[in-house]
Amino acid sequence: MKKRIFSGIQPTGKVHIGNYLGAIKQWVTNQGDHDNIYCIVDLHAITVPQDPAELKASIRTMAGLLFAAGIDPEQSVLFVQSAIPAHSELAWILNCITPMGWMERMTQFKEKAGKDRERASVGLFDYPALMASDILLYDTHLVPVGEDQKQHLELTRDIAQRFNRQYGETFVVPEPIIPKIAARVMGLDDPTKKMSKSEPGKFHAVYMLDTPDVILKKVKRATTDSLRDIRFDENRPGVFNLLSIYQAFTGETEAEIEAHFAGKGYGDLKKELAEVIIEGLRPIQERYAKFIADPAQLDALLAQSADKVRPIAEATMKRVHQRMGLG
Ligand code: AMP
Ligand code: TRP
Repeated sequence: MKKRIFSGIQPTGKVHIGNYLGAIKQWVTNQGDHDNIYCIVDLHAITVPQDPAELKASIRTMAGLLFAAGIDPEQSVLFVQSAIPAHSELAWILNCITPMGWMERMTQFKEKAGKDRERASVGLFDYPALMASDILLYDTHLVPVGEDQKQHLELTRDIAQRFNRQYGETFVVPEPIIPKIAARVMGLDDPTKKMSKSEPGKFHAVYMLDTPDVILKKVKRATTDSLRDIRFDENRPGVFNLLSIYQAFTGETEAEIEAHFAGKGYGDLKKELAEVIIEGLRPIQERYAKFIADPAQLDALLAQSADKVRPIAEATMKRVHQRMGLG
């Protein structure tokens, strides 16, 4: 039997090359080896205020981008979270077995809520319980995500194990898959900060739908350092970040890349990196244009996918009800 993969992505904000290299690229490689379920998590998106029309549009944009990046509807399921009510229901149930202390340890909430903790929604605080529910509903073995989601995966495992101990074997305990290269792509303007959808700086992130001109401009402005040689050195975060992105797009080894850039300057590195990103994104952007031109077809693909996996979620909920004595 093939192992089941589940992963999710929020539809809001512009998708950047960190999302692509950290998550999406892993989703599309070796699709044939696993049983893959991918989810556009709109219920996670509403943990912060959203404009309804924009949210709706961004779900289609995300679906178009994911299909364009290579999610193959023959081999993988891609659906929208809110189409399957079991996600919300299981999240509630998991809330009731999760100690406050476990949730309070989650660092992403602290980052996202910032100084104004009291004004953040309860949903934002509780976000990881919904994520655990997404994963546990589908008897998931493996969860491909970027480094930033590791702590949420550990929480999911703890919740699954606690439930299994209290009510008997019910959930598969999942494991993360974190890429070796580019698991944490950093901001071009500030390589000490993770590249993020919500960072406003104009030169912070390269977005998947950026034009070649814009990509070149952003890469040229990227922060480096005052040294000269081009080497993979984690103590030089700017150059390290640029080289890691280059490596993730080209698939070359560190040694090959260092040899290639020996004797060259940062100007060359930036020019060649921009080229590699532009060429890497070009086919995706071309396919995206076709998908987004036909929103009815996109909606139909998403709806069919939800129909395919709904029975799995319902079977899990039935098991959970029985074990807990609900209904
Ligand atoms: P999000 O943008 O939070 O919806 O994240 C979607 C996926 O992209 C998750 O698997 C994240 O771990 C991954 N991701 C987000 N930002 C980065 C980044 N800067 N580098 C690598 N992976 C990332
Ligand atoms: N929390 C994830 C993020 O911000 C998105 C997500 C929601 C997810 N549900 C998931 C990822 C389930 C993996 C599995 O990136």
